[in-house]
Amino acid sequence: MTEPHLLFSDGVHECYIFNNLVEGQGVQANQFLIVDGRDYALIDPGGDLTYNPLALEVSKKFELKQLKYVFASHQDPDIISSLDRWLLHTDCQVITSRLWSRFLPHLASGFVNKSLQGHVFDRIIAVPDEGMKIPFGNGDISCLPAHFLHSVGNIQFYDPVSKILFSGDMGASMGNEKDALVVSDFTEHIPKMLGFHRRYMCSRKISALWANMVRKLDVEIIAPQHGPMFKGKENINLFLDWISQLECGIDLMTEQNYQLPL
Ligand SMILES: [Fe+2]
Ligand SMILES: [Fe+2]
Repeated sequence: MTEPHLLFSDGVHECYIFNNLVEGQGVQANQFLIVDGRDYALIDPGGDLTYNPLALEVSKKFELKQLKYVFASHQDPDIISSLDRWLLHTDCQVITSRLWSRFLPHLASGFVNKSLQGHVFDRIIAVPDEGMKIPFGNGDISCLPAHFLHSVGNIQFYDPVSKILFSGDMGASMGNEKDALVVSDFTEHIPKMLGFHRRYMCSRKISALWANMVRKLDVEIIAPQHGPMFKGKENINLFLDWISQLECGIDLMTEQNYQLPL
C-alpha cells in the first residue's frame, strides 16, 4: 500500500510518513509530508525510485504547484536525487546544508538557463552550520546541526507542533518487517541498527554531542529515514543512551583498514 500513515493532526497541522514506496532493489526509505494550513513541505523525498509514487500520493492532498519546501538532510541519492523533478513540477524551495547547496545543481542541469522556474541556486536555501528556523504555516521548522551524522554537512528537522524530530539516517535500521512503523522492543531492535551506525556514523564523540542537543528538545517521535520510528520518551532515551556510547566510524578504524589490496 502506498498511502501514507498519519503521524499527527490537530486539524490544521498534519504530519505523514510514507514507508512503502520503494520497490525493487533500493533500500527501504521513509519520506515525510508536513502540512500546516495551506503550506506543504516534503522531507527527504528520495530519488528516481520514489518520485512517481510520492508525487502521485501527495497530489491527492494538494496541487503539486503548492509545494512550498523540500527539506533535504544531506546529499545522498535516497534523499534528494529527485531534485530536478520537484524543481520542475513545483515552485518549491529546497532547504539543505550550505555545504551541499553548491553541489546540488549537479542534479538539475536542465535549470541552469531556465528563467521560468528560476536558476536552481535561487531556489536553494543554504542552511549555515549553526542551523536556522524556516517559517512554515503558523510557526516554523527548525533545521538542526547534525554534521557528520553521517554526511559532512548534515541537518535534521524538528517540528515543534508535532514534536517530531526527522533525523535522516540517524536511528536508521535495516531488515525490518515490512510496514513496521514503530520500534516496539528496543533491545531486539539493536541488531538492525548496529552495522549501519558502526559504519555510516562518524564517531562516538559526534553522536554524543548530537544526543546531548536532542535531550534539550521536547521530542515525542524520532523518525529516521530508514526503518521504524522511536516513539515516546522511554524509547527515545534508550536510543540516545545507546548511540552516545557506541563506538563507530573513525573510532573503529585502524591501520588494518588501510592496507593495499592484494
Ligand atoms: Fe545517507
Ligand atoms: Fe539514507
